Amino acid sequence: MKFFIDTANLEEIKHAHELGILAGVTTNPSLVAKENVSFHDRLREITSIVSGSVSAEVISTDAAGMIAEGEELAKIAPNITIKVPMTPEGLKAVKAFSEKGIQTNVTLVFTANQALLAARAGATYVSPFLGRLDDIGHNGLELISTIAEIFNIHGIETEIIAASIRHPHHVTEAALRGAHIATVPYKVLMQLFHHPLTDQGIEKFLADWNRQK
Ligand code: E4P
Repeated sequence: MKFFIDTANLEEIKHAHELGILAGVTTNPSLVAKENVSFHDRLREITSIVSGSVSAEVISTDAAGMIAEGEELAKIAPNITIKVPMTPEGLKAVKAFSEKGIQTNVTLVFTANQALLAARAGATYVSPFLGRLDDIGHNGLELISTIAEIFNIHGIETEIIAASIRHPHHVTEAALRGAHIATVPYKVLMQLFHHPLTDQGIEKFLADWNRQK
């Protein structure tokens, strides 16, 4: 499983990139709004740092509008992936993008049937939202397992991005259950590095080393 970072914050993206584990970036309108910057300028900045997929979400609700927006976004850089909501109009747009060779990420996926429809429309990625399912008392991780099994049975190449990740356990389980990618907020990404025994171990090694001098 690869790591994407789920943010539009440039400092977070730069740091994750420096860590050497970053395969891509996902943004959404809420994340971009928090940054108070021009969307296109921010995408230019992100794509100058990250060579992997950078998801940019359309805000139109009709297919024609999504296609027009997506075509403009795709001109920013070759690694822009157009993020499209899981609606009938969204999937019409996905079909059109796939025929033009433009990569897509179908977002707001909450059922296996939605994932299957998106894949058949030609989506490059589908994004099941774990945390938001957990929030309403469902099991987000079960959805990852089901989608992975269906894609495997039918030889579907669409990649599964585990999204709406809230804690490190989501990451481990998403990997075990067959997600190709986890898109993680910066805070969770940093949590993945740490364990108190690692910190204590380093402290002890250094203390022992300094004592023998
Ligand atoms: C994914 O592409 C979405 O941007 C994101 O994971 C949504 O997460 P949230 O439910 O924490 O807003």
